[in-house]
Formats: sequence, structure tokens, C-alpha cells
Amino acid sequence: MALTKISSVFLICLFGLYSQTAKSQFCGCSPILCCSQHGFCGTSDVYCGSGCRSGPCRTSRDPVDKIVTQKFFDGIINQARNGCAGKRFYTRESFLKAANATFDFTDTVTRLEIAAMFAHFTHETEHFCNIEEVNGTSRDYCDESNRQYPCARGKGYYGRGPIQLAWNFMYGACGVDLKLDLLGQPELVGSNSTVSFETGLWFWMNSVRPVLKEGFGATIRAINGVECSGGNSSAVSARTGYYRDYCRQLGVDPGADITC
Ligand SMILES: *[C@@H]1O[C@H](CO)[C@@H](O)[C@H](O)[C@H]1NC(C)=O
Ligand SMILES: *[C@@H]1O[C@H](CO)[C@@H](O)[C@H](O)[C@H]1NC(C)=O
Ligand SMILES: *[C@@H]1O[C@H](CO)[C@@H](O)[C@H](O)[C@H]1NC(C)=O
Ligand SMILES: *[C@@H]1O[C@H](CO)[C@@H](O)[C@H](O)[C@H]1NC(C)=O
Repeated sequence: MALTKISSVFLICLFGLYSQTAKSQFCGCSPILCCSQHGFCGTSDVYCGSGCRSGPCRTSRDPVDKIVTQKFFDGIINQARNGCAGKRFYTRESFLKAANATFDFTDTVTRLEIAAMFAHFTHETEHFCNIEEVNGTSRDYCDESNRQYPCARGKGYYGRGPIQLAWNFMYGACGVDLKLDLLGQPELVGSNSTVSFETGLWFWMNSVRPVLKEGFGATIRAINGVECSGGNSSAVSARTGYYRDYCRQLGVDPGADITC
């Protein structure tokens, strides 16, 4: 009897250890544990110190304007060729304004998340060269079966902005949250750079941040799943290349599961 009790306690401990290790691969730690920069759960400085991704981290997070410095932003946009429409549109200031306006973003963002986000912005816009999707007007992004967000006559819902927001239902849902009539005026996303970044952050917070802890590969799938599993390996390697570069610039480890 006593023996059974001891062995079951032992088994429970073993199981506890096992489940903690299994979970730790992607973090998703229990709320009392820190997720380390390498994606493991624990409580010592290795986990809760520098690079800590979530949980009771001991280092205070850097504010977003200390991460997205002018140097970091210029290092990207300066690679866009002269004559790109985006060069006179996207600015660090408008990104920071949008970040400030996005509830919860500025206080919770990490360096790793900025590296991932800007890797996608860079790929989607070709280093902030494009405001609108190249030849976007030639494609139909109106899902007429969507009754909640019906297309306005004569308006195009092709890709616009840092994340290339597309489709009537996306413009519609995003507009509701931003309190802007993006169904009636989708062109706002291409004419006001703060609005443009707000749409990027809207998509990010709703569709990408929730999978960030699964690794960068999961963020590619969230943005353009068609590219994954051989759909377009050069697009995937371009995105991961930017990600590794920005992680290096921002001094964070890119973590596991980078590709998809
Ligand atoms: C963002 O908000 C902070 C704190 O309220 C403020 O100090 C900063 O100037 C704001 N930045 C921009 C670009 O609005
Ligand atoms: C855009 O359209 C032009 C003219 O039709 C064509 O030459 C070009 O290859 C197209 N670009 C892309 C990226 O589809
Ligand atoms: C751009 O959009 C922002 C956010 O909606 C707004 O505060 C600002 O006044 C707009 N700028 C212009 C020039 O319309
Ligand atoms: C694959 O991605 C690359 C880089 O973004 C792009 O130039 C190319 O057009 C894409 N190919 C296809 C078939 O979509």
C-alpha cells in the first residue's frame, strides 16, 4: 500500500517533469514560469533574465521606440530603390504612432517579435518600396458571398500597406476595429501611413501574434500559408533570411522552428 503510494507519487512527478519538458519546446509555460529566449520554461536568470519572452521576466522590456530605432528602420527602407512610392510614405514615426494607438502592443512587444514583424513587412513590401500590390488592380479581391462586409462599387481590395491587407472581408473587419470606413475607402490604407501601419498591426495582433510562440515558421503560415511546405520555397527563405538578420541586429536568438 505504502509502496504503491510512493510509486504513484513518483510517477506523478515524472509525468509533471515530462509534460513541462514537452511543453517547453514551444514555451507556452505555466504562468509562474518564464519563457527563455531559446524557448524553454524555468525560473532562474537563464529563463527570466535577458531575452525572456514571457512570464515573470526580470528584465523590464524595452519600449518599442528603443527597439525600432531610426537606424534599424532606415537600414531597411534605404534598400528600396529610388523612385519607390513607399520611400516617401512609410516612416518610423508613423509606425510608432500606429504602435502607440494599438492597445496593448507597445507595452508587450519584444525584440524577437519586432524582428519577426519587420521580416514580414520587408518581404511584403520589398523593403517598404511598395504601398500597393504590384498589378493589384488586375485581381479580384471581392468575395461577394460575404454579406457582412459587402464590396463598395468601384473599390479595389487588393494588397495595401506593410502587411498587404487584402479582400473585402479583411478591410471590413479591420475597419470596424480601427473605427474607419475601410470598405468605403480602402485607399486610406495607401494614403495615410499611420492607418497603413495600423492595418499591419491589426492583422499582426489578430492572426500572427497568437502563433509567434510556435516559432517563425508558424508566422509565415499565418500570413501566406501557400508558401509553406514547398509552395514557394524561395519566398520562405527570403522571409527567414530577413528574420535572422533582424534578430542579429536586435541581439536576440531566433529560436526553433524557423521555417515551414
Ligand atoms: C508613444 O507614447 C509614448 C507614451 O505615451 C510617448 O512618449 C511617445 O511620444 C509616443 N510616440 C509617438 C510616436 O506618438
Ligand atoms: C504587371 O503587369 C505588367 C504589364 O501587364 C507585366 O509586365 C508585369 O510582369 C506584371 N508584374 C507582376 C509582378 O505581375
Ligand atoms: C491619418 O490617420 C490618423 C489615424 O487615423 C489620423 O489621426 C491622422 O489625422 C490622419 N492624417 C491625415 C493627414 O489625414
Ligand atoms: C515566389 O516568391 C518569390 C519571392 O517572393 C516571388 O518573386 C515569386 O513570384 C513567387 N513565385 C510564385 C510562383 O508565386
